[in-house]
Amino acid sequence: MKELQEIVGASHVLVDPDLRAPYETDWTGRFTGRAACVVRPATTGEVAAVVAACAKAGTAIVVQGGNTGLVGGAVPGGGEVLLSLARLRDLDPVDRLESQVTAGAGVTLETLQEHARAAGLDFGVDLAARSAATVGGLVATNAGGIRVLRYGSMRSQVTGIEAVLADGSVVSRLTGLAKDNTGYDLPQLLCGSEGTLAVVTKVRLRLVPLLTARTVALVAVAGTEAALDLLAAARDRLPALSAAEIFYADGLSLVRAHAGLAAPFPDDHPAYVVLECAARVDPTDDVLEMLSGCDAVADATVASDAAGRARLWAYRETHTEAINAAGVPVKLDVSVPLAEFPSLVARLPATVTDVAPAARTVLFGHVNEGNMHVNVLDAGDRAEAVSDAVLTLVAAHRGSISSEHGVGRAKVPWLALSRSAAEIDAMRRIKAGLDPAGLLNPGVLLPPGSPRG
Ligand code: MLT
Ligand code: ZN
Repeated sequence: MKELQEIVGASHVLVDPDLRAPYETDWTGRFTGRAACVVRPATTGEVAAVVAACAKAGTAIVVQGGNTGLVGGAVPGGGEVLLSLARLRDLDPVDRLESQVTAGAGVTLETLQEHARAAGLDFGVDLAARSAATVGGLVATNAGGIRVLRYGSMRSQVTGIEAVLADGSVVSRLTGLAKDNTGYDLPQLLCGSEGTLAVVTKVRLRLVPLLTARTVALVAVAGTEAALDLLAAARDRLPALSAAEIFYADGLSLVRAHAGLAAPFPDDHPAYVVLECAARVDPTDDVLEMLSGCDAVADATVASDAAGRARLWAYRETHTEAINAAGVPVKLDVSVPLAEFPSLVARLPATVTDVAPAARTVLFGHVNEGNMHVNVLDAGDRAEAVSDAVLTLVAAHRGSISSEHGVGRAKVPWLALSRSAAEIDAMRRIKAGLDPAGLLNPGVLLPPGSPRG
């Protein structure tokens, strides 16, 4: 402890239970664990020294950014040093020539977006937790969000990384060269590794053009099949399409009650799709033309001014908060091929109530990627059975048990539904090579085995 205090300063080693508490429970309230202490370094050098000290003592580390993760990957299992990267907030000037920027792991997504926009560019990833989610966490989980349709997930934005390995050594590759075939791609290996291979301290990121002409449409449809028909028309007719999101009538009721929002349409409808187009010239006419020619549209409302767009997005983006306000949900995040999407959605509610009769299922997600967020409230002591039933159903639909939130602690028992034994063995060997003592995020991502999972 004394050594850690000497590295980061006594005020940045939190031992008091009240000071540790906000770091020890995740955003949903479902995952909680006790840390030996919380250490808050401010530079890569300090992170390296802390990791080296922990390696020497054989102490495990759990790494945390904005603590907005949804699978328990950043909360302690018990007794680890919790390494908070929130103070690594360096943000270099935007490199306009390369359209790139280098950001510290603790920079929030919102700060990064504002920084890029002030320089006339934008960042390709966006998600509802933007004010708290940090660059390091976004990389560690390969975050997705609402613009994957247009720009891909976090790994598509990453051109370089600086990271501290489990022995405290630093690997730094921040040149961001557009072409660089010189061996293993370490930055890409670390994307989605959930803090199990190294501690990401800095990231070089690709930026995208700033598209200020934006139009959002909230579209009422008869159900999931109709939503896919609308998606097909939008993809076909709207080159500026940048988001396509889905939610259902029960989610809308929850959101409206929680946030006091007015009904978006005179009538209720089974399902709703949010579409956003972003371009240099106003895409509203194209959106209106596509909507008027699409039979799947039961009703629609369109906004192109900032306040109107935010009002329509709120129906989708308030889902997470409204669900959490109703209880601690079992949060599952799955994806299936689009052809399987309607069948999955149709079978989910009964799959849940078969094993947890009192539970209710709220669905919403990123329809373009076949990514459904399955939120189960009132599961009581049946959480595990619910996860098992839903994830088995997803595997039977050729899907993934974690589309964008990661595996964390929550999905470890089901990893083999999505990855083969050979793949898990290969991942274990990579882990053993980079972290032979199993000190980084033990219990996260890999099932228990050797080295410590
Ligand atoms: C979202 O799409 O809003 C996020 O993944 C958060 C969530 O699933 O609750
Ligand atoms: Zn999502």
